[in-house]
Amino acid sequence: MLPDIDFTSTQSYKYLADHYIDIVAKSLKELFDADDQRFEKFSLQFEDILLDYSKNRIDEETLALLIQLAKECSLKQAIDAMFSGEKINVTEGRPVLHIALRNRSNTPIYAEGEDVMPEVNRVLAQMETFSNKIISGEWKGFTGKAITDVVNIGIGGSDLGPVMVTEALKAYKNHLNMHFVSNVDGTHITETLKKVDPETTLFLIASKTFTTQETMGNAHSARDWFIANGGADEDVAKHFVALSTNTEGVEKFGIDTNNMFEFWDWVGGRYSLWSAIGLSISLSVGFDNFTRLLSGAHAMDEHFKTAEFEQNIPVIMALMGIWYNNFFEAETEAILPYDQYMHRFAAYFQQGDMESNGKHVDRNGKHVDYQTGPIIWGEPGTNGQHAFYQLIHQGTKLIPCDFIAPAQSHNPLGDHHKMLLSNFFAQTEALMNGKTEEVVIEELKKAGKTDEEIKKIAPFKVFEGNRPTNSILVKKITPYTLGSMIAMYEHKIFVQGIIWNIYSFDQWGVELGKQLAGKILPELKNEEEVTSHDSSTNGLINQYKAWR
Ligand code: F6P
Repeated sequence: MLPDIDFTSTQSYKYLADHYIDIVAKSLKELFDADDQRFEKFSLQFEDILLDYSKNRIDEETLALLIQLAKECSLKQAIDAMFSGEKINVTEGRPVLHIALRNRSNTPIYAEGEDVMPEVNRVLAQMETFSNKIISGEWKGFTGKAITDVVNIGIGGSDLGPVMVTEALKAYKNHLNMHFVSNVDGTHITETLKKVDPETTLFLIASKTFTTQETMGNAHSARDWFIANGGADEDVAKHFVALSTNTEGVEKFGIDTNNMFEFWDWVGGRYSLWSAIGLSISLSVGFDNFTRLLSGAHAMDEHFKTAEFEQNIPVIMALMGIWYNNFFEAETEAILPYDQYMHRFAAYFQQGDMESNGKHVDRNGKHVDYQTGPIIWGEPGTNGQHAFYQLIHQGTKLIPCDFIAPAQSHNPLGDHHKMLLSNFFAQTEALMNGKTEEVVIEELKKAGKTDEEIKKIAPFKVFEGNRPTNSILVKKITPYTLGSMIAMYEHKIFVQGIIWNIYSFDQWGVELGKQLAGKILPELKNEEEVTSHDSSTNGLINQYKAWR
């Protein structure tokens, strides 16, 4: 059972509210000046990942109170409930066991009284055999040629994870060309099909439910294209496989269930890259690298499960987020990887975080009177620096940022990595220290400006600083460290959901859009004037019909 505690009525919350008044008056610079041990005190290392959270607006008391908050919210009990397979996804009546998919120690994990590990291992073995056959060229298409291109058709969790990881691990890629089709906009599948040859293309239809409109639409169009371009019905088995929990749906689509890679309803869509949904990853970088990804995540799971909260990286990251979200009233958080391969990492956790914790009803079904999940966004550095960092530095909004960078590059070209990392280090320092008016005036004087000119221009050049950041320095982006980092963020989201007393593993909010689109679609298939909606929706639909 998950605890049911209103965190705003805890003792620690009240202390934190008072303590906030002290902290908000202090600058990060002052906090650093007052304590030369800040880095040692507020940084943690887990294997090849260093989290430096010293550039946050906290002191030792803040940390102690936040940890007390986690304890008062029975976080430990909640972690144990997840790991032991309790049905913590209450509104869907399911356990939450993505941790079982990467349970490399293979100890039994029970869902509804049954050890899930034999099934997990069976599908992993199936993925291994299949990946090896495709990569080696042993698996032949309908004209006897080896597969050269893989098209993953899926959306949301059945797309973003595979895309993010295959991009992040591009340095480990083999010869297979990977393509991802997600949008129901016909452009996406059309443009992709232009690049591939039916004789040498494998389609992965990735859908937990096998009912998602976008994915089914794209899958049908892909099969029509395949048939129209030389494939026969009996050839479909060589070119289409399904990654799903829905055997019936897969059969109905016409995919041989021997070519189905199964997973289970205790795997949430946005937590599914570790399951059969990760087949595109295994095809792209090989099964051994896929298992390294699982191992890295498993190591983080063990850390999360066993480390004291003071030493626990996902717990600390979650508490920092709560500090800003619920006390500083920060609305968003940016994830900024200084690694081009990681360019989809923020987009991935946009779903991971916002679909999980974008909830306004607590675990009693009551409307909350506090803030829950933040808006997550971000782009790789240094590109972001030349786009939106202006607002982070000098805007009116407080935006806590996670800066992520690898110490070692996969492409050590000249001074590129040093230049990249100099920006990584410089940005968090600048966000913290800012630039005072005195320094600005000094600089302008040196540049030969008159007093009058200086008076006019100086205010625009002042940086208040005091902008908080986490720095996550990782030795190298490998399948293993990437697995650890993804699990780290997953558990951060879990911890926050527990403290906010919400259910993080359902997504009813997405259902409304699906239902309404389903209602409107038939109305678009005829020429009749539509009058069944509000005047705006009617007007838009009727204009669309007039113009199409
Ligand atoms: O966007 C809602 C959602 O249900 C996500 O949670 C999920 O990842 C996505 O749709 C795709 O669902 P499916 O894998 O069932 O096609």
